[in-house]
Amino acid sequence: MTNLITDIDIVDTTQKQNDATCEVKITQNSGLSGRKLYIESYGCQMNFSDSEIVSSILQKDGFNTTDDIEQADLILLNTCSIREKAELTIRKRLTTFNEIKKNKPEMTIGILGCMAERLKSQLLDEEKIVDLVVGPDAYRDLPNLVKIAEEGEKGVNTFLSREETYADISPVRLNSNGVTAFISIMRGCDNMCSFCVVPFTRGRERSRDPHSIVSEAQNLFDQGYREVTLLGQNVDSYKWSSQENNKARLNKLTNSEVINFANLLELVAQINPDLRVRFSTSHPKDITNEVLVTMKAYENICKYIHLPAQSGNSRILKLMNRTYSREWYINRIDTIRDILGQECGISSDMITGFCSETEEEHRDTLSLMDYVKYDFSYMFYYSERPGTLAAKKYEDDISLKVKKKRLQEIIAKQSQNSLERNQQDLGKVFKVLIEGFSKRSQEDLQGRTSSNKVVIFKNQGFKKGTYINVKINSCTSATLLGIIVK
Ligand code: SAH
Ligand code: SF4
Ligand code: F3S
Repeated sequence: MTNLITDIDIVDTTQKQNDATCEVKITQNSGLSGRKLYIESYGCQMNFSDSEIVSSILQKDGFNTTDDIEQADLILLNTCSIREKAELTIRKRLTTFNEIKKNKPEMTIGILGCMAERLKSQLLDEEKIVDLVVGPDAYRDLPNLVKIAEEGEKGVNTFLSREETYADISPVRLNSNGVTAFISIMRGCDNMCSFCVVPFTRGRERSRDPHSIVSEAQNLFDQGYREVTLLGQNVDSYKWSSQENNKARLNKLTNSEVINFANLLELVAQINPDLRVRFSTSHPKDITNEVLVTMKAYENICKYIHLPAQSGNSRILKLMNRTYSREWYINRIDTIRDILGQECGISSDMITGFCSETEEEHRDTLSLMDYVKYDFSYMFYYSERPGTLAAKKYEDDISLKVKKKRLQEIIAKQSQNSLERNQQDLGKVFKVLIEGFSKRSQEDLQGRTSSNKVVIFKNQGFKKGTYINVKINSCTSATLLGIIVK
């Protein structure tokens, strides 16, 4: 474990990352004609979802996506700034692109996303091979900016909008398994967690027109998809009203003037009982009992909540400006368990070594983890981000050594709790949506339970996108293993 932590600053102890931050590259789909776009995404699921919007915008401009970087006319890196390590990874990647560009000088290279927004045109000075710098709200301008770059100038647009939601753009699904898809329901964030760069890179929070969300989900279902995940930095504060959004047409979906997150969940769940609905991320201060009751009312709304605590200590939570205390958080957990039962999956994000955190305060995080028994957690050590409230107000005074030691301790705690939670499932039967072959072998299939646990079972010829019942007969801390039953 120790060595692992020196190399990475994110650890997912259990399963494939689908909602927090992740620093891996992904590309896809080969195009046969026209100019070729290679796009690589880093960071949270919203960034991956944005790459699908970008691909759609550029497809209309004659670009087909390719996964062969050597063939590309345009390389785009959709970047993340959440921790220093994330930005260093991008810088390293640019040196590789530099080599490729030496043999193909006409190639255009662009930086999109949060790092583009944070550093703006400064990036052009620092990274000479970059031709384009485009922030998350300026993707509609890409065809124009690419043209500018192709004419030998530098293209920059990091304007942050109060309205842009790309509601009318049908994303080109990249790396799709044809079963599960992500739908962005809002953009930006109005919270000011003191450690976090997102409000600066993504701008003000705005909710997307529910009509376009429901029709995107309906289209996905019609194409054979069986699960959608509604994405936002803080989905529980989703709010849309025809008036506020200055829409001439009336809200056709319900009789109410305002649609909140619980209403939206219900609208998507009603598309078809065979369409599973997930969502991420929930903020402990905003998740309402109405959301929990709506989850209970619909079998197809998955019983899984990603509810990042960040810390188990009230003083640290205050410094983090999370606006809830340990007691408030525990109360939300108790309410989730009361309404949705023990089987509802719960996960968290945790940060160790935040400014001035004492050993005792760190132990509060460990004890919170023991209280909640999270199914899994995304765990990080604190990385100071320039311009954030914490960077301005507090000293980053916990040594890297201590941050990493504490991170190791919470990872060990999580592994133990994940195993315990999985062991509770032994002997039980779960409805599983098949997502495809298991990662290790085509002799096994893999799917998920409603509570978001990965289940592996023998391939008996069932197609992906099918629901089957699986009886769990063994497990690790990361996965459940079982057999198909009637
Ligand atoms: N909107 C989500 C989080 C988005 S960022 C929420 O409020 O929960 C994903 C995670 O990255 C955060 O939950 C936090 O745990 C981690 N993170 C954010 N800024 C960080 C920083 N400066 N150092 C370390 N981890 C950080
Ligand atoms: Fe960052 Fe806090 Fe917003 Fe999450 S809620 S994106 S942690 S500011
Ligand atoms: Fe996401 Fe990273 Fe930006 S986590 S919002 S891509 S800073």
